[in-house]
Formats: sequence, C-alpha cells, structure tokens
Amino acid sequence: MISPSHPAIAAAPLVMSAPAWADYGLVDSGGGRKLERYGPVRVIRPEAQCFWAPALDQGEWEKADAIFEGAGEDEQGSWRFRSRPPESWPITWRDIRFDARLTAFRHLGVFPEQAANWAWLADELPKGKPGARILNLFGYTGVASLVAAAAGAAVTHLDASKKAVGWARANARTAGLHQAPIRWICEDARAYARREVRRGELYQGIILDPPKYGRGPAGEVWRLYEDLPDLMTACAALLAPDARFLLINAYSERLTGLALAGLMAQCLAGRGGHIDWGELALTEESGRYGVGVSFFARWRA
Ligand SMILES: C[S@@+](CC[C@H](N)C(=O)[O-])C[C@H]1O[C@@H](n2cnc3c(N)ncnc32)[C@H](O)[C@@H]1O
Repeated sequence: MISPSHPAIAAAPLVMSAPAWADYGLVDSGGGRKLERYGPVRVIRPEAQCFWAPALDQGEWEKADAIFEGAGEDEQGSWRFRSRPPESWPITWRDIRFDARLTAFRHLGVFPEQAANWAWLADELPKGKPGARILNLFGYTGVASLVAAAAGAAVTHLDASKKAVGWARANARTAGLHQAPIRWICEDARAYARREVRRGELYQGIILDPPKYGRGPAGEVWRLYEDLPDLMTACAALLAPDARFLLINAYSERLTGLALAGLMAQCLAGRGGHIDWGELALTEESGRYGVGVSFFARWRA
C-alpha cells in the first residue's frame, strides 16, 4: 500500500512533442537521418531512431547547407558543407533570442525537442508571479534558464563547461536578459548540489538534464546510471516547502521515463504531488511521424 503522501506516478506515459516554430522545424526524417531547419540554415544530422524512409525526395535533402557525417551514437564525426553557414546566427523561440552554431558534437547549441519543456516551464512560471528560485543543473547554453528568467524567476544556472557557461551568458545578452537575476556557475553538479544542501539553500523549482557521462571542472566524473540517485536525493532536499516542480530529462537508451519517475518518487516520498513521465519527441512539419529523442519525468506539487 503506497502512503497517501507518496507522489502519484501517472499510469501512462506522455509524449511531449515540440511542434515546429518559426525558427525551427524537422523538415523530414528517415534513413537514419534528420533534415532540420534552424532559422535560415538547413542541416542533416544522424538520428538512429528514424528507421523509416524519408517522405521528401532527394532534391529537398540536397538543399541542406551542412551535413554531419560519419557518426554513430557517441562517435566523433564532422560537418560537410554545401554552403557554409555563419559562425553563429540568432534564432528565436517565442520572444527569447539566442545563438545557434554548428558544434563538433553534431549539435547546434540548442536541443529543439526541449521546446516542449520550455513551454511547460513557461506555464509553470507565469509572468507576473515573480520570485521563484530556480536551479538549472547541466544547463548547457541556457535556454531553459532564459525561459525561467523571462518569467521573472531568480535562476541559478550551472554547467561544468566554461565554454558552455560563456555561451549561455552570451545568449542572455542576445535575449536582452543580461540584467535578469541569473547566477552563472561553472562547477560539478553533484558537488554544488551537496554544498547547497549543507548551506540550507532552497528552490521552488529544479531542472536537470544530465548527460550519460561527463566531467566536472576539477575532473569529477559524472556517470548517469551510478550517480543519479545521489544527485536526485540532493535535489529533493533542495526543494522548498512551497516548491512547485522537479523536472529531469535524460538522453539515454537505458533509463526510460518510468525509471526516472520511480527514482523521483522515492526521493520525493512524503511530499505528495504527481509525477508525469514519458518521452520528448520532435514531430515532422508535415505531421507524418514523431522522432522520440529523450526521456523525462517531472514532479508537480
Ligand atoms: C545534455 S547537455 C544539457 C542540454 C541543455 N539542458 C539543453 O536543453 O540545451 C549536458 C551538459 O552537462 C554538462 N556537464 C557534464 N558533466 C557535468 C558535471 N559533472 N557537472 C555539471 N555539468 C556537467 C555538459 O557540459 C553539458 O553542457
């Protein structure tokens, strides 16, 4: 028998699908690849989930400006150009402007499927109700931090990479949010969370998007499967009595949304509330197929 104060885990998964927006679209997918547009730039990137055949003809795919080649999951690859995009260029989600750039890791400094989480976050932190303290761990280039700051939250943005924090700060300037109350921290997520617990700090909302493997600035090793229970426990301790949410996202073949939900429920035992879980997906602009790319679980008080 589950105690009434144990968070209730949703009986069925949710697919959070980010539809196309003006500056991003999944134009087509298939043959193990995605054809996407980021503002005026079209790119082709490997995507193991797309077993099916593309809908558009080869001619449409050949219009891509840049193609990331030679990489399976977690492998190195490189960009090949038909027409070289600028070093970086601005794209906008709702009224938040930030920079896209081709990186050596096949990404463009933004994970467009996260738009589903940004929209959820914006709903959880309605403008006009400022004052929430939000912690964004593994924050990368910071779009989620900017969404929270734009809604009036005081944000602590953390990433282990100096370069990523620099890019996130530059994005805050691009978004016109450089004056917003965002603390930029370059540190190991686990070390920081533990220290915040010792200091008695509390947050109304926590977001985390841990990679499978990473390193803190002092060489601290992060392994998702081994280290997540400890970090989730610290996050639970950092939630204020009036906390509204805890959101975790993971790009992993082994940890499903249900697994994340179970761990979350255990760490939040005694707090009540509700946990949704499932998959983040990108849907082709035609509406044909969705491409599942990551798993999430999120608790709401
Ligand atoms: C999957 S990305 C996050 C994507 C981001 N949340 C978004 O939606 O755009 C993972 C990030 O974790 C950071 N990272 C890796 N190991 C870390 C550690 N030990 N502590 C803190 N951040 C770490 C990386 O530098 C990287 O920016």
